[in-house]
Amino acid sequence: MYSHDVLIIGAGLAGMRAALSARQNGADVAVISKVHPVRSHSNAAQGGINAALEHAGDDWHDHAYDTVKGSDYLGDQDAIEVMCREAGSEVIQMEHYGVTFSRDENGRLGTRAFGGQGKARTFFVADFTGQALLHVLYEQIMRAGVRVYEEWFVLEILVEDGECAGAVVMEIRSGDIHVIRAKAVIMAAGGLGRVFEPSTNALICTGDGMGLAYRVGAPLMDMEMVQYHPTTLKGSGVLITEGARGEGAHLLNSEGDRFMERYAPNMMELASRDVVSRAEQTEINEGRGIDGSVLLDLRHLGEPLIRERLTQILDIARDFANVNLLEEPVPIRPGMHYQMGGVKTDVDGQTPIPGLYAAGEVACVSVHGGNRLGANSLLDTLVFGRRSGEHAAELAKSKSHKDLDDSAADAEKAHVQRLMENPKSEDMFGQIRVDMGTTMNDHLAVYRNQAGMESALDTVRQLRERYQSVYVPDKGKTWNTNLVFTLELGFMLDCAEAITLSAIERKESRGAHTREDFPERDDENWLRHILVRQTEDGPALDYQSVVVTQWEPQVRSY
Ligand code: FUM
Repeated sequence: MYSHDVLIIGAGLAGMRAALSARQNGADVAVISKVHPVRSHSNAAQGGINAALEHAGDDWHDHAYDTVKGSDYLGDQDAIEVMCREAGSEVIQMEHYGVTFSRDENGRLGTRAFGGQGKARTFFVADFTGQALLHVLYEQIMRAGVRVYEEWFVLEILVEDGECAGAVVMEIRSGDIHVIRAKAVIMAAGGLGRVFEPSTNALICTGDGMGLAYRVGAPLMDMEMVQYHPTTLKGSGVLITEGARGEGAHLLNSEGDRFMERYAPNMMELASRDVVSRAEQTEINEGRGIDGSVLLDLRHLGEPLIRERLTQILDIARDFANVNLLEEPVPIRPGMHYQMGGVKTDVDGQTPIPGLYAAGEVACVSVHGGNRLGANSLLDTLVFGRRSGEHAAELAKSKSHKDLDDSAADAEKAHVQRLMENPKSEDMFGQIRVDMGTTMNDHLAVYRNQAGMESALDTVRQLRERYQSVYVPDKGKTWNTNLVFTLELGFMLDCAEAITLSAIERKESRGAHTREDFPERDDENWLRHILVRQTEDGPALDYQSVVVTQWEPQVRSY
């Protein structure tokens, strides 16, 4: 058995930021991750991180207002205020740690425009901002002496006497299962993008963190709010950064029109993501698309700018779509990108289970509501990662470890053994995963309706049945990725059910949740969050009011 004051699950930006601050606050900290930290999905974040810096003539209130409006008024305004107020110091801190942010012509930190915002306040490192932040934070946690359990998989959160007490984990290399005791656990395991197919997310984004917390009774909030990013490559679904439109790229339909003129005459291509994705999908549905896509045109930006600021997407378009962005527009379409919902927390990352925290995409603080602004996710990971780490370190000072021994792992050992002994069948993780992903993408995408979502729920429930007898062909213990993928699938199915149930429940259109059968926003009945809890009788729904501080809901236009 291992012991630490604070155990952090996930080594992306939220996890490593939490680790660093918990360590700086005196805790013995460990991070556990199913991949090497710099392979975490934060690596794929391209466009940048938002902050309103006073020296740039910006004001955090304006950032907060844009975020509230972007959320279609579902974001909790007290939490949004915290995030936007602390954004500037967080970005400067990252610069001091060594992140080489792109500069403006005067040598100061440069910004680019991003969607749904009245000012250009997105700080960036070309179009690989997440990667730059991730590598710097990894250096910092190494320097601070944080222990990393790298390529270990978490099977279960341990709760003793109503308090979080640690986790049961599997070392993927050996297949050995262990207990890690912890006075506080911070869940920072990222999102669930691969519950949908395709997705911009890495294959590792399988909702493990949401599933783990949900299984011990933590509520999941706003799960119906799934962001479809407007520019993902047709076919593979790989992300083409919003930074391209921030630098001035145009969206064109099959007639060569900049169709955003008709949907968002003021902000055009830089309206918020839900608005642009709906516009694209409408163009495609009404016959003005090209083989299920529209076009993103960067040619007028010129080669020097593209090579300096958008170098990664130049490679991505060439490698994944055989398109030279310098010479031709690239076919794109809305694609699953981000889960606005997640494990419900307060602004210090606390979940309703004492000692269990959550931060980053796995969490719902809630700062994104119905639609996240581009470049607010990196900010969310850093601000709430740091705050969770600080709070967890203080908590750890005030308590001792629960009296656990290795038998705490017995239930999970039995669970894994049962899976391994399932008799041979056609049902292996791959087919179930594809069936789930395509069903979700068919019925819970940009436009939704009751019949489609009900059929998705039916399918997800049938897949859950099939999962009970899922067959694991690889019987080995060493590097059994077949087993790991099968375990991940269990968490994905939990998430798929929570998303579908919440989406069926919300009988209005708000943010990313657009229902053909309820096309209007309904503040009278639905200015509230939907929560899903696991109970002995299955998932149960609950509600919570949205916190409004200074911005009353208004009609939203761009
Ligand atoms: O388009 C992008 O670069 C994505 C950024 C984000 O989701 O925040």
